[in-house]
Amino acid sequence: MNGESLARQRLSEARSVCVLTGAGISAESGLPTFRGAGGLWREHRVEQLASPQGFARDPQLVWTWYDERRAKHAEVEPNAGHRALAELEARIGDFTLVTQNVDSLHFRAGSRNVLELHGNLREARCNRCAARRPLEPGVRFAGIAHACGGCFRPDIVWFGEALPEDVWKAAVAAAARADVLLVVGTSGQVQPAASLATLAPEGALVVEVNPETTPLSSYAQVTLRGSAADVLPRLVAPGSD
Ligand code: OAD
Repeated sequence: MNGESLARQRLSEARSVCVLTGAGISAESGLPTFRGAGGLWREHRVEQLASPQGFARDPQLVWTWYDERRAKHAEVEPNAGHRALAELEARIGDFTLVTQNVDSLHFRAGSRNVLELHGNLREARCNRCAARRPLEPGVRFAGIAHACGGCFRPDIVWFGEALPEDVWKAAVAAAARADVLLVVGTSGQVQPAASLATLAPEGALVVEVNPETTPLSSYAQVTLRGSAADVLPRLVAPGSD
């Protein structure tokens, strides 16, 4: 039995499935990844845009960059990879989708039990008192001051910041009880997110879907070298063997 058939069979029998996704799953929707050719961190300095220090130094630059990303997310559509994971969720009793992405495309594809490890761009929160507001179109930089004296920032996790504790605990628990752990479209270079791929219990099947080899490939019993939009629909298609 080849790797793809094994993955399909184990998914069809699984009671508990955990999926970790990264920017690669949204590539075919037209969103750039971070580290590949044309990646965001090839063209921009991470510490300038994705750190609390960068925001303190130049809030207008940071706010405007994330507002442009939010607008771009709203222009694109979920792809067949996102939709396949939503279909899988509908069949599996215990299904957890853990994503590093802040683009909301999993929700828009119909996924429900989604843990957003790095936050999202649907909301902003005050950097002083943690008040929240929706990040709707049109919140320009001039509108980010909060009455408490702080200012609003995107509700995402920047480098040097801790992940939301409850979200992280739930993600660890889901990976640790999975019969099948799918690792899709992540370079595995950002911790602690990447470590989830190492937490599957004895006997679980770890499947990586990525056109390239990553540091996580060695933890996977099955590596499927293709794009998420191509491979995932085949993995979840019922009765195709
Ligand atoms: P990366 O840009 O580091 O990695 C994207 C991965 O997706 C690479 O391994 C690609 O080979 C793979 N890939 C590209 N196209 C694909 C496709 N069509 N199908 C499947 N895989 C594909 O993105 P992440 O691993 O998500 O964090 O990056 C992790 C974190 O680093 C992000 O959440 C972000 C970033 O800095 C923060 O901003 C806090």
